[in-house]
Amino acid sequence: MTTPNYVIDPLISAKSIAARVESLADEISDHFKDTEKLIVVGLLRGSFVFIADLVRELDLPVEVDFLETSSYGDGTESSREVRILKDLRGEIEGRDVLVVEDIVDTGHTLNHVIHLLESRNPKRLKVCALLDKPSRREVDVNATWIGFEIPDEFVVGYGIDYAQRNRNLDHIGKVRFVK
Ligand code: IMP
Ligand code: MG
Repeated sequence: MTTPNYVIDPLISAKSIAARVESLADEISDHFKDTEKLIVVGLLRGSFVFIADLVRELDLPVEVDFLETSSYGDGTESSREVRILKDLRGEIEGRDVLVVEDIVDTGHTLNHVIHLLESRNPKRLKVCALLDKPSRREVDVNATWIGFEIPDEFVVGYGIDYAQRNRNLDHIGKVRFVK
């Protein structure tokens, strides 16, 4: 087994994440308070920890579904071309939908997903992203709710990986390469 050539410096603590998830859930619950049922769509795989915590704080009738898009592969640069690897199981026509994303970076992934889901005519479609790197944006797309704005750093933890590692960290850290 090879030793990774990087270390992880702490960026956002588990405690700060938990507090922010609670306030995001309050805002989302308030926004959708009249919903018959909210379909919460997690973008795999990076959002799996966030969505698990978020849905447990929502004070709403909720259904959970997942969508998987192609990812960065093993690098730290976006491929920009987005493909759907796994589609939703359920229909969203006429439904209230909340897309849950880990990070909005260049914006290509979210842009693609929003267009795809809008074409299925949901009643309302909103987006909640845990992290946002606005300085990296290449397409004009934004989440309705953002957990934290972060600088242009490659981050891991709380579901987010680097080459499939570090998803199980309880906090968010930034990757620093070492010799
Ligand atoms: P975008 O299409 O460039 O906005 O990229 C979005 C996706 O890239 C996110 O859903 C993440 O899965 C991944 N990504 C972006 N930044 C990072 C990062 O700092 N660490 C790990 N994955 C990232
Ligand atoms: Mg992702």
